[in-house]
Amino acid sequence: MIYVITIFPLILYSFFFHKFIRKYEFIHYGITGVIALVFGVVEGHNFFNEGFLGVSFFIIVMFTGVLTKSKLKRNLNQVRAQYAIIGFILISGHALPYLFYLLEEGMIFVHLTIIIGIICYVIFVPLFITSFMIIRRRMTFKQWKGLHKFTYLSYGLIFLHLFLINNSRQMFYVVLFALYTVLKVIAVLDKHYTKKKLKLNQKKMEC
Ligand code: HEM
Repeated sequence: MIYVITIFPLILYSFFFHKFIRKYEFIHYGITGVIALVFGVVEGHNFFNEGFLGVSFFIIVMFTGVLTKSKLKRNLNQVRAQYAIIGFILISGHALPYLFYLLEEGMIFVHLTIIIGIICYVIFVPLFITSFMIIRRRMTFKQWKGLHKFTYLSYGLIFLHLFLINNSRQMFYVVLFALYTVLKVIAVLDKHYTKKKLKLNQKKMEC
């Protein structure tokens, strides 16, 4: 399975080298930019322009948000923004060449999966731009948080894009996104009840 050889090394890399990634984040962006460009313009399918590596970064970003408190979550959280940026750069090397090719061939509206991929990519653009600290600092926390709620919509669209391709990995995508949804619901409920408990304790202290 292609994702095993991408996701696990990427988790290990962020676990042990999160400080290095943060320190040299722009070098990482530069290298991935070159990879996306070089393999994006190469004709035919290859490991990079098929989108697998980009999606692997997004999968790690998604699951970091729903992990329970642990050293793994702490370390992965350190590079969540960087991994999202790298994921976007790599996915550009998949989405843009496909987009230009399909435009040229007049095949944009041939399959729903393509339209969903395009919508997803468009949503990614503002999320990508505002992931850079220099831009993020110019926004209020509320504005940033409000915009980044669209991340969840993009997760749903990634799933649909991958699911509708209907290949041998379809079941894997179903299990992966179902697991994410369950963990997300648990995380939201946990946060809700912890908040409620805190409020109750505060009230008790005031009495
Ligand atoms: C302009 C936007 C996009 C277009 C036109 C597009 C187009 C396509 C097409 C036509 C395929 C099928 C390739 C094949 O079976 O030979 C595909 C596969 C794929 N796309 Fe996209 N895509 C776009 C955006 C995205 C985005 C935003 C993501 C993820 C964040 C993504 C991830 C993938 C992956 C991982 C595959 C391979 C899935 C598999 O074979 O299991 N794509 N895309």
